[in-house]
Amino acid sequence: MAFPYNEIVLDHFRNPRNVGSMADPDGKATEGSPACGDMVTVYIKVDAGTKVVSDIKFESYGCASNIATASIITELAKGKTLEEAKGITWKEAADALGGLPAIKAHCSVLAVEGLRSAIQNYEEKHGLTASREATTE
Ligand code: FES
Ligand code: FES
Repeated sequence: MAFPYNEIVLDHFRNPRNVGSMADPDGKATEGSPACGDMVTVYIKVDAGTKVVSDIKFESYGCASNIATASIITELAKGKTLEEAKGITWKEAADALGGLPAIKAHCSVLAVEGLRSAIQNYEEKHGLTASREATTE
């Protein structure tokens, strides 16, 4: 069986960009997969004036596909406005990685959701969300 990952994916897996935690993030979210129990946490710093993602870090407890996707989305999101970063799709991330094995799509979707949730966390903390139903936490 051919090895399923291309060189770009392997590079991001072996040398993940922006990996680690952030002491004082402006937004943070953890997404977990019920299927495998793996998790990814995304931390963002946001410039209050321009609403640009000025810094981003991630921690992954997932597989190569999850780590590589989290790594590439940090590169795609950095320097983008929150609105632009929110629009980053799984397809964009997969394309930037030169393709991902279909069987591993959910693992990489998890990383994209982590970014969106971290942005949502920032927006909720700063009262930027449009009328959202109140939650108890
Ligand atoms: Fe769990 Fe991929 S196997 S994130
Ligand atoms: Fe866990 Fe893919 S097997 S997200």
